[in-house]
Amino acid sequence: MEDKITKLQNLIDNSQNIVFFGGAGVSTESGLKDFRSVDGLYHMKYDYPPETILSHSFFYENTKEFYRFYFDKLLVDGIKPNAAHKKLVELEKAGKLKAIVTQNIDGLHQLAGSKCVYELHGTVAKNRCERCRAFYNVDYIKSFNGDVPTCKCGGTIKPEVVLYEEGLDQNTVNKAVKAIASSDLLIVAGTSLTVYPASGLIRFFGGKNLVVINKDDTINNDAIGLIKDALFIKGKVGEVLSKIVVNISE
Ligand code: APR
Ligand code: ZN
Repeated sequence: MEDKITKLQNLIDNSQNIVFFGGAGVSTESGLKDFRSVDGLYHMKYDYPPETILSHSFFYENTKEFYRFYFDKLLVDGIKPNAAHKKLVELEKAGKLKAIVTQNIDGLHQLAGSKCVYELHGTVAKNRCERCRAFYNVDYIKSFNGDVPTCKCGGTIKPEVVLYEEGLDQNTVNKAVKAIASSDLLIVAGTSLTVYPASGLIRFFGGKNLVVINKDDTINNDAIGLIKDALFIKGKVGEVLSKIVVNISE
């Protein structure tokens, strides 16, 4: 492991154009569950499969049930950025990290201080009334304690997160692709690379320095082709990144 950390340190020292592509595994060290690890959300027992609950049709047909799951599992109170989020802020401040492309909706990268974050699956921070499009922040949603949040006009509020059956925001995708395509070091961490089109964006990386950090061997087989030449570091992304020193280049 140590020689792989040394290799990662050298790659980071020699790059001024790093992009970080992350998934739910980046937030597990902050206390959030991921989806597909053995103890992840998709292995827990619910009346419906979580992939069903987190879908467009379920939101409209079972709004109350949607918000019960969403409040219980995704709007976790008191979560804080972990060592991974913090190191990425340091790398961005040093001018080395150009963008974070995340599948997460928890807002922890911004909470840590990262500026350039492309949220492919949206964010819990943004919520809009389905009737009048009024904007509400996450605290207003939390104040309903799991009940369906309603707007002052009486309309139902929907979070601006990308549910199954919904498309990604094209503008966000375009910016993420541009950042990945122009980077010379792509670090892919804490993701099983199961969900498309998000996972497919890493195919736009044209450089030779691809690093994958994952605590298990749970990368989706369909994605193995995308990362076959990667430096694979088995470990917790927070622990791995906390060993990296950010050297400010002259
Ligand atoms: N460090 C490194 N890897 C980790 C850590 C950690 N601390 N914790 C978990 N992992 C790994 C797991 O081994 C797994 O391979 O992160 C990966 C998380 O994979 P998923 O749970 O599938 O999460 P993700 O890839 O982000 O899922 C993508 O699926 O349900 C949708 O919209 C949801 O954005 C999500 C998308
Ligand atoms: Zn309204």
